[in-house]
Amino acid sequence: MAENSKIILTGDRPTGKLHVGHYVGSLKRRVELQNSGEFEKIFIMIADAQALTDNADHPAKVRENIMEVALDYLSVGIDPAKSTIFIQSHIAELTELTFYYMNLVTVSRLQRNPTVKAEIQMRNFETSIPVGFFTYPISQAADITAFKATTVPVGEDQAPMLEQTREIVHKFNSVYGETLVEPQILLPENEACLRLPGTDGKAKMSKSLGNCIYLSESEEDVRKKVMSMFTDPDHIRVQDPGKLEGNTVFTYLDAFGNDEHFAEYLPEYANLDELKEHYKRGGLGDVKVKKFLNSVLQEELSPIRARRAEYEKNLDQVYEILRSGSETAKETAAKTLEEVKHAMKIDYFQEPTFLAEQKEKFII
Ligand code: TRP
Repeated sequence: MAENSKIILTGDRPTGKLHVGHYVGSLKRRVELQNSGEFEKIFIMIADAQALTDNADHPAKVRENIMEVALDYLSVGIDPAKSTIFIQSHIAELTELTFYYMNLVTVSRLQRNPTVKAEIQMRNFETSIPVGFFTYPISQAADITAFKATTVPVGEDQAPMLEQTREIVHKFNSVYGETLVEPQILLPENEACLRLPGTDGKAKMSKSLGNCIYLSESEEDVRKKVMSMFTDPDHIRVQDPGKLEGNTVFTYLDAFGNDEHFAEYLPEYANLDELKEHYKRGGLGDVKVKKFLNSVLQEELSPIRARRAEYEKNLDQVYEILRSGSETAKETAAKTLEEVKHAMKIDYFQEPTFLAEQKEKFII
């Protein structure tokens, strides 16, 4: 493989079905990157071991969602001929790497990781943080480095993980010699895609809040969710001027809409700016904007839905994709682990062996 070849690794925790926030924040981009032909290898990981770090008591939930996430990947257009989809826990090498990287990270550094901090709060872990959860940024560094990933397309919430990974790589390479590759984060380009709010306008989409639109949702359910989306609570009558800030329908249009959608579904307006101007001025009702958003979303989601239905009928095939992807991923990770152990001088049974070296020392 060429020295400068570009490799992608990314993944998701299988704790639920993937939603439109995952789609604009990462999945759509992955498919574009996959089809760009710029990458030598692409690894997409179902992070079940990481999911267990905060779901230790819910193994069934994680197991259930392996297939859901795999179906979501395939339905958005991840192509197993171009991308290796695999299951994290199958790659024992990742835990071994994690164990060695742990020596290179301090407790206080982990405590300062903003994502870990926020998650500890969110899960009320303050007084009883599982060690495995606390150290998951280290395991994430193992995920990324095991595949020599140069490029990690993720949402901005993952930026601290990438920073931590780069620090580990830096430290490893300076202590043990140049071995690991420093990865770059690749964030969504569109501002609205960075963090798509829930349909209720809340900052985060979450299953428990019931404010997600799932990729696998039916046409009718998507429509219902769009029609009941949060807008501007002060925009009561059509003629009232409307606010765009915090107006979820417009945020979704920022994320999903383009000029062709206007030509197709709302030709009175040339583009989103014109629609926004009218809304701000007053005289444009929420229902009209929501109907437009529904058309836009349905256009994006219907091919995804159709592909999913096909794969759902062929679970044997999906299972085989996961199995063979996991085998391929394991081979790659094993090779890196070998290099890591060599760099760390713990490769006793590799040539030249530890024995030969010792003999030289003792026999003379
Ligand atoms: N932390 C990611 C998430 O919560 C999942 C993940 C695990 C990941 N390991 C990774 C993402 C490595 C990118 C690279 O969705």
